[in-house]
Amino acid sequence: MSDATPVGSGVTLEPMRVEHVGEIMVLETELFGPEAWTEGMLRSELADPDSRHYVIAVGAGSVVGYAGLVAYDDEAHVLTVGVLPGWQGQGIGSALLADLLEAADARRVLLEVRADNAAAQRLYARYGFRPIGRRRGYYQPSGADAVVMARD
Ligand SMILES: CC(C)(COP(=O)(O)OP(=O)(O)OC[C@H]1O[C@@H](n2cnc3c(N)ncnc32)[C@H](O)[C@@H]1OP(=O)(O)O)[C@@H](O)C(=O)NCCC(=O)NCCS
Repeated sequence: MSDATPVGSGVTLEPMRVEHVGEIMVLETELFGPEAWTEGMLRSELADPDSRHYVIAVGAGSVVGYAGLVAYDDEAHVLTVGVLPGWQGQGIGSALLADLLEAADARRVLLEVRADNAAAQRLYARYGFRPIGRRRGYYQPSGADAVVMARD
């Protein structure tokens, strides 16, 4: 990915940097509520750029979406994808996911998604992810199940 990749509607993708963390935490809390990551979790992800690939979507001068992936030797995991509600349904989530998959190179990619999150599961299915299992009570504090999806 170059420094700013256009994705349409005046939105660009850029590498996530530490200075974006404050703005992203506002989105994180809005999108994931009590299951949101802490600022410390996000900062420690960004401190490991060799294995992590984090990207933001910028629209109208603000962060409107973000996504992250960890790549191991032979496998990668999508760790997070989120788009601000007012910016959803315009292809930003797709662009973020496509960027992660490019970073994953040819690795098998795995992810967990809430069993009740149909929109996210549709997005992942469009990119070739298939359900391979379920983790009961994976999300806390809600106790919601996760569906494990994989893309080979
Ligand atoms: C899941 C999520 C990331 C998707 O982001 P998004 O930006 O809305 O994704 P897209 O716009 O690429 O795709 C969403 C829908 O818009 C449609 N769409 C994409 N571009 C479009 C366009 N230009 N015009 C009309 N529709 C469009 C897609 O086909 C898709 O349709 P579907 O709902 O029938 O599958 C977003 O809903 C989100 O952040 N949800 C809350 C957080 C979350 O659940 N994250 C996932 C955790 S595992």
